[in-house]
Amino acid sequence: MKKLIINYKAYREGIDHGEGIAKIANTVAKKFNVDIIVSPPFTMLKELSKMCKTIAQGVDEIDPGAFTGHVSWYEIKQSGAMGTLLNHSEERCIDSKNGAIVYSALKKAIDLCTQNGLETYVCVQNIKEALEVCKMRPTAIAYEPPELIGGIISVSDAQPGIVKEFIELVNKNCSSIPLIGAGIKTAADVKKAVELGSAGILVASGVVKSKDFKSAISELAEPLA
Ligand code: G3P
Repeated sequence: MKKLIINYKAYREGIDHGEGIAKIANTVAKKFNVDIIVSPPFTMLKELSKMCKTIAQGVDEIDPGAFTGHVSWYEIKQSGAMGTLLNHSEERCIDSKNGAIVYSALKKAIDLCTQNGLETYVCVQNIKEALEVCKMRPTAIAYEPPELIGGIISVSDAQPGIVKEFIELVNKNCSSIPLIGAGIKTAADVKKAVELGSAGILVASGVVKSKDFKSAISELAEPLA
């Protein structure tokens, strides 16, 4: 079953209409037999997990304990979410001094989640990162070029060659599910993603900033059926 992940980010619309989007997501998932998962802010996880499948927007590489302001796998698990995004472009797992990805921290977060029955959806910005993340065997790896996020040109249209390369690399090197995201807004964008071999998509503004959530989710889900 192909996946449609709807990231609410910290959009005001996601907070104001989060329940409605979650309920529609659940209905559309059943209609088209697509695995639709929403990723709301942490404060909404528990409530929305009663309405549809959810994943958190991130997790820290810690066990529960004296870590003020951090989020452990245990908190995610207790919320009823099935897993978490990791290393999203807006929440990179990086060294604040040099901007380099801290792969050891990312691996620790993935391992803690896996050991505790949570799925991991790890975002990467390029092929090199995808290769490193493959070694960590997360549930899914999502290619999202940062310059296309939130824009009107989809990753499938702008970078078909890189998308193909990414998908082949994931399929060859690990059993993680290859996903793509950034700028995806129309059924045509999704069709192209599927043609290129993607097992699903990540979307934010195309749904959360839409005037008609039901039409937006249905349009993106149908080509994944
Ligand atoms: O996590 C998905 C996101 O980064 C893509 O955002 O607005 O381009 O669909 P958007």
